[in-house]
Amino acid sequence: MKPPATQSEKIVPGKNTGEQSILIVDESPVVRHLLRDRLQQQGYIVLESLNGGEAIELVKKSKPSLILMDTGLHAMDGLSTCAYLKKQKKFQHIPILLITLQEDEAFVDKAFEAGADDYLIKPIQWSCLRQRILYQLNQQYLKKKLEDQARALRLAKAEAESANLAESEFLANMSHELRTPMHGILSYAQFGLKRIDKVPREKLKEYFQEINDSGDKLLKLLNEIIDLAKLETGKMSYDFHEENIVEEVDSVLYEFAGLAKDKHVSFSINLPEIPAVVNFDRLRIGQVLRNLLANAIGFTESDSTIGVSAENEISDSERLSHKNIKISISYKGNGIPEEELVSVFDKFVQSSVNQWHSGHTGLGLAICRQIIEDHHGKITVQQNSDGVLTFSVSLPLVQDPAI
Ligand SMILES: Nc1ncnc2c1ncn2[C@@H]1O[C@H](COP(=O)(O)OP(=O)(O)OP(=O)(O)O)[C@@H](O)[C@H]1O
Ligand SMILES: [Mg+2]
Repeated sequence: MKPPATQSEKIVPGKNTGEQSILIVDESPVVRHLLRDRLQQQGYIVLESLNGGEAIELVKKSKPSLILMDTGLHAMDGLSTCAYLKKQKKFQHIPILLITLQEDEAFVDKAFEAGADDYLIKPIQWSCLRQRILYQLNQQYLKKKLEDQARALRLAKAEAESANLAESEFLANMSHELRTPMHGILSYAQFGLKRIDKVPREKLKEYFQEINDSGDKLLKLLNEIIDLAKLETGKMSYDFHEENIVEEVDSVLYEFAGLAKDKHVSFSINLPEIPAVVNFDRLRIGQVLRNLLANAIGFTESDSTIGVSAENEISDSERLSHKNIKISISYKGNGIPEEELVSVFDKFVQSSVNQWHSGHTGLGLAICRQIIEDHHGKITVQQNSDGVLTFSVSLPLVQDPAI
């Protein structure tokens, strides 16, 4: 049943009855004619049928707002038709008003047992029928409104619970991750303090090294958490400039040359000669590229090659509607299980196959995704059947006004 246009509104004849349809089920053409005229005058849409079987078909097809049905039908009587419809989940909400010739106790019992919402006795008094129809339609409308509100409340409750759960999970993860390097710092500091006069300088140096490494990990984690908090609340401030992004890729590759050499990993670089101008924040895009390269070098086998390329692409996706530059970092390795590919961009998620030994928490890609989205770009991961894993970043190119 279509509710009235506004929440406070009720169904008022001549005003919004045009949205309500009433099915008359009666064998008598005279009765149908009379009822049709009166109801149409009130603005209702009127449907008609001669018997129960036909009425059921019409209900399936047109889903009327209310049914007005004579009980003395021959083909399928009104009580059985009413009982049938009220057993169907899809139609049981439709109010049914039965019309009978005589009112005796047995009939009243049968009518309500069949699920009728109300009944009227022939000859029908029009004013009485009109008011009962209105009453049923408004009751129905109120019921629907309450059900909608209950559904909306259930949904809001489920959403609040899941947000709460996500927050608790985040806090639990974070406390665990913070505690590990903190323990490292405290335990080596305590070792040192207790044994300062007994252990050689070399041993003390080791303790300081451990404290320093744990401090670095803690700082990295705190920086990532602060970045993520700023990004998620829209408080990250960016310093956008229109610059050639290929230069930034070059400079990050240069930074990673030492690390790649240590691991006997080489780069196969394929970058465009001509400038690719993008409006971007060097620091933040550098952060994205660093995480992607650190991941690739960290998870690839020694003596392998990492491909770094950039090419123009034309995209008409929702996010990217014009010419973009697509920077891709790919290599052949252990890969990421197919079902985990979508979740690697989530916070604190690490693939079951590739995990760092320590100091990494699975926040890098979550940060990358937000930074790229704030640049109106897109970050994706793909894996082909040969086991080549490719992380790509697409960013909109600044359009040359002459083009
Ligand atoms: N190039 C890659 N090859 C294989 N697995 C990868 C690659 N990049 C990411 N992953 C998987 O995705 C996980 C999440 O990566 P992400 O960069 O978000 O976090 P992290 O590297 O574990 O930690 P962080 O970046 O916060 O130091 C990684 O732990 C790894 O399991
Ligand atoms: Mg990472």
